[in-house]
Amino acid sequence: MPMEKKGPYIITEQPGTKYYCACGMSKTPPYCDGSHKGTGKHPSRVEILEEKEVAVCSCCRSADFPWCDGSHNAPGN
Ligand code: FES
Repeated sequence: MPMEKKGPYIITEQPGTKYYCACGMSKTPPYCDGSHKGTGKHPSRVEILEEKEVAVCSCCRSADFPWCDGSHNAPGN
């Protein structure tokens, strides 16, 4: 089981295409590094249109993935 960070990654993103890790195995979280190969999971592709601060989910439990929705605070998480 990969290590989990408690809480989201707060990042000031620049415009461009981002691939956020959805398998929890990336060594460069929250970004995909290809470690999902063979897991059946795929990164979340997002187009960032302008510089903005984002809260990227690190627990893979958000209903609004790749964005944090606070699910990391749910009991048992
Ligand atoms: S880090 Fe907040 S819902 Fe996953």
